[in-house]
Amino acid sequence: MDTIDAIKSRRSIKSFKNHEITKDEIDQILQCAILSPTSYNIQNWRFVIVTEQKLKDEMAQLSYGQKQVSEASLVIVLCADLKAWEKNPERYWKNVSEESRNYLVNGIKQAYSGNPELEKDQAIRSCGIAAQTIMLAAKSIGYDSCPMEGFDYDKVGKLINLPDDHIVTMMVVIGKSAKDPAPRGGQLPLSDVVFENSF
Ligand SMILES: Cc1cc2nc3c(=O)[nH]c(=O)nc-3n(C[C@H](O)[C@H](O)[C@H](O)COP(=O)(O)O)c2cc1C
Repeated sequence: MDTIDAIKSRRSIKSFKNHEITKDEIDQILQCAILSPTSYNIQNWRFVIVTEQKLKDEMAQLSYGQKQVSEASLVIVLCADLKAWEKNPERYWKNVSEESRNYLVNGIKQAYSGNPELEKDQAIRSCGIAAQTIMLAAKSIGYDSCPMEGFDYDKVGKLINLPDDHIVTMMVVIGKSAKDPAPRGGQLPLSDVVFENSF
């Protein structure tokens, strides 16, 4: 599917058909996800993929009963490693010259050292972009999705054994829509949201 068509036809779907997603399809979606941009290429996202029905049901309960979680073919819990920047950052630039690598790794350390606010901001930015990549990749191979923040973050974190230096940022559920979505809620016109050169 053309990218513009995927963007235009993606909707947040609340009800999915009973459908098994293949390992190949999951792999295709995740291979696209890891091409999402991250600041300094630190690739701080971590994706916990959930296909086991029992776990999806538990997650649906922790999502205040939102049934798209248990009905989905695949639930992806997007997490971020807050300390990705200091864990062997040379690996994010392994393909460039040693001189460039040293320069970039130095930049990473300078930006993040003693800056927990940046760690968290970048986690949210990286995962937000990755979530959209996931939803568009899913759409282009025939799947629908719903981005989600309506769940108990602490309890979902416990359920997936979230490491201490990671955070859960959001979820994306993926499946085949059971029915046509309602018309869009109502998009603001460009004139309300776009400003040329300054506000
Ligand atoms: C960060 C984020 C969190 C969301 N959380 C939920 C959620 O918990 N449950 C839900 O049904 N929809 C959720 N949505 C979907 C929005 O309600 C939806 O994107 C919005 O109404 C626009 O509809 P559309 O995506 O079909 O264009 C979330 C969307 C975003 C971006």
